Amino acid sequence: MKVFNFIVDIQRFVEDKRNEGLKIGFVPTMGALHEGHLSLINRAKKENDIVVCSVFVNPVQFNNPADLEKYPRTPELDIEKLQSAGCDAVFMPSVEEMYPEKVDDHYDFGDLERVMEGACRPGHFNGVAIVVRKLFEIVTPDRAYFGEKDFQQLAIIKKMVNILQMNIEIMPCPIVRENDGLAMSSRNVRLNAEERALAPKIHSVLKSASSKLNTMSPQEMKDYALSKYAEIKEFEVEYVEITDENNLRSLNDWRDSNHARIFVALQLGPVRLIDNVRILI
Ligand code: PAJ
Repeated sequence: MKVFNFIVDIQRFVEDKRNEGLKIGFVPTMGALHEGHLSLINRAKKENDIVVCSVFVNPVQFNNPADLEKYPRTPELDIEKLQSAGCDAVFMPSVEEMYPEKVDDHYDFGDLERVMEGACRPGHFNGVAIVVRKLFEIVTPDRAYFGEKDFQQLAIIKKMVNILQMNIEIMPCPIVRENDGLAMSSRNVRLNAEERALAPKIHSVLKSASSKLNTMSPQEMKDYALSKYAEIKEFEVEYVEITDENNLRSLNDWRDSNHARIFVALQLGPVRLIDNVRILI
């Protein structure tokens, strides 16, 4: 596997592959890789000739400086894991390489950025769009792979690709979980033993709430989930939302959607965790 730190070098690599007529699959990440990330690499391997991964902790998408500072960084381990997964190239730039000057782009994602993560983390999705656009322009992939763990991010990226008319297929991938149901996340390593023992409840509440489709309205399901989370004093819930999958608008009535999801964001000890589950209407 090739490791590149500079834009010109990864561009030359990709250009050579493209001239050979090979299809390029791309997996952008912030590193501290786990099985969730590797599932994206595996999927990209199946569907493309060449797989490129990027590892870059993107400062402009962090609205909380402590979160940026504490974000786990394990570059050597990441390289080993990507190599074993059969990734062809990894791009690991420095902040100076990606942002020689301050980037001041502003995107308008409409309602998509005014709910859930967009409302709770001002500027976050703008920062995600800035870096993903730049990475797309550098790597010029045919397909790019994103996890449903960050479901709203996926919707924002699809919208960005449409706005900019980029010829890149955005491929959604299912959430990979620990055996106890906790969604894998680079931030999970920051939980202590007690917090880690409580964390599976984040998913189990979503699952039990989502199974009550036939007996509860969306508002009742949301209240049910909130009441279950309130039983655990260590959970500081930021939101529970039930929305249509496509436009992420809150649902008042199941008849208004064919595809719904229930979302949660909560603070547990030092970390903010998110999760979501599909509601089978
Ligand atoms: P990061 O949090 O490292 O995630 C990289 C990709 O892995 C995202 O598409 C994310 O949804 C996916 N992912 C993370 N945990 C997952 C899990 N348990 N199951 C399935 N997929 C999972 O998301 C980012 O980085 C950044 O915002 C980025 C897009 C790289 C831009 O900086």
